[in-house]
Amino acid sequence: MNQKNKKVYIKTWGCQMNEYDSLMITNILQENQKYTITNSENDANILILNTCSIREKAHEKLFHQLGRWKKLKKNNPNIIIAVGGCVANQEGKKILIRSQHVDIIFGTQTLHRLPSMINKKIQHQKPMIDITFPKLEKFKNVLIPKKNIYSASISIMEGCNKYCSFCIVPYTRGKEISRPLRNILDEIYKLVDHGAKEIILLGQNVNAYYSIDKNGKKCTFSELLQIIASIKNIKRIRFLTSNPMNFNEDIIQIYYNTSKLVSFLHLPIQSGSNKILKLMKRSYSVEKYKEIIKKLIIARPNIQISSDFIIGFPGETNYDFQKTMDIISDLNFDMSYSFIYSPRPGTPASKLKDNINITEKKIRLNILQNQINKQTQQWTQKMLNTFQNVLIERCIDKKKNKFLGKTENNRTVILTSHQNILGKIVKVYVNQIQKNFLTGKYDK
Ligand code: SAH
Ligand code: F3S
Repeated sequence: MNQKNKKVYIKTWGCQMNEYDSLMITNILQENQKYTITNSENDANILILNTCSIREKAHEKLFHQLGRWKKLKKNNPNIIIAVGGCVANQEGKKILIRSQHVDIIFGTQTLHRLPSMINKKIQHQKPMIDITFPKLEKFKNVLIPKKNIYSASISIMEGCNKYCSFCIVPYTRGKEISRPLRNILDEIYKLVDHGAKEIILLGQNVNAYYSIDKNGKKCTFSELLQIIASIKNIKRIRFLTSNPMNFNEDIIQIYYNTSKLVSFLHLPIQSGSNKILKLMKRSYSVEKYKEIIKKLIIARPNIQISSDFIIGFPGETNYDFQKTMDIISDLNFDMSYSFIYSPRPGTPASKLKDNINITEKKIRLNILQNQINKQTQQWTQKMLNTFQNVLIERCIDKKKNKFLGKTENNRTVILTSHQNILGKIVKVYVNQIQKNFLTGKYDK
């Protein structure tokens, strides 16, 4: 295969961390070996699948996809198929046993080794596996895409030590480990050079961030937020996901004095029942969660909270579910994610007896999602005829001068402007609410 002509197709499943990892893969391949990225799998010489195992039948989904790619490989035996992400970390070699047409298995911490794995595969004509956990090695030479990005994600920590009883993340992403401050700042400065105005800090548990530099200087999450806020060109900061267990007083204080931090927080509660929280091994109570939110509202009266909920966890009675519904209306959650509990192999909860039938789980999920949707619409409705700060991320129609941007509370706004406002934060008057976006007016 001609080294310069490899076309790579990347398919990504899962969370923002996986999206970030796939972007890293794209940058590494494009920079180091002059690969080109293609949007068509039929056109590709290398097919990469970045997998997710948080819920549902991750394995079936993976092998189904690999089955489809097998047909492509039949027509062109030189195609290289690589599987990475959380399922790869969990299953490793087993994937090769079931799908012999797979060439490379790489993990969440070894994706930067892909170029050399591809080379070795071509040289030796045998499958390559590397799902080890070399600490933070993948962040050593982070590359930035060539095009401008106005809202940029950056991983600040990896892994999780919390071992919630239902969750597979600690097994697939490894132990919590924070990137050195210097390394994060270097990446942010490069992103700023490429137009970044908004930084989204990523990690499974960002508020557990903690680093110590060579001189013994420590940095906590709240300190990191302040340091980033002091960068002149950064105008907005978001983070996800944070956790009620490490949401300490110093983070709440930041909301008083760091206006660049958006008034929107995603803080997963999972359940409104203390009994279920205990079974989930979430080491906070509903009261503790409420207290955090109460303090945040004092610091930022206009803050909006979104959350994650798991429905039908083993032992969840109608009463427990009602407790979840109570907290949803009590705290008036904005757009949130909700999932039916899915037993993950190897987790402690998977050994608990699943005593709720699927019909009941679906009914509960439906009730919960209707309530969340209603509240989300109410939050959106409040934005009509108000001015909102919108970060303009894209021009969606050059001829008609149409731009797309995001408000602080994550609503998409579409507007017309005769000036080039790309990458700017502009004050927009919201004049209409459509199903999936708002329209606004901006004159200057
Ligand atoms: N670190 C975050 C969660 C990351 S996982 C936290 O502390 O909450 C993202 C979300 O997936 C979780 O918040 C949870 O709602 C959902 N999830 C994780 N494991 C799950 C499982 N086994 N079944 C259903 N939903 C699950
Ligand atoms: Fe999972 Fe709990 Fe960590 S949900 S990512 S084990 S905080």
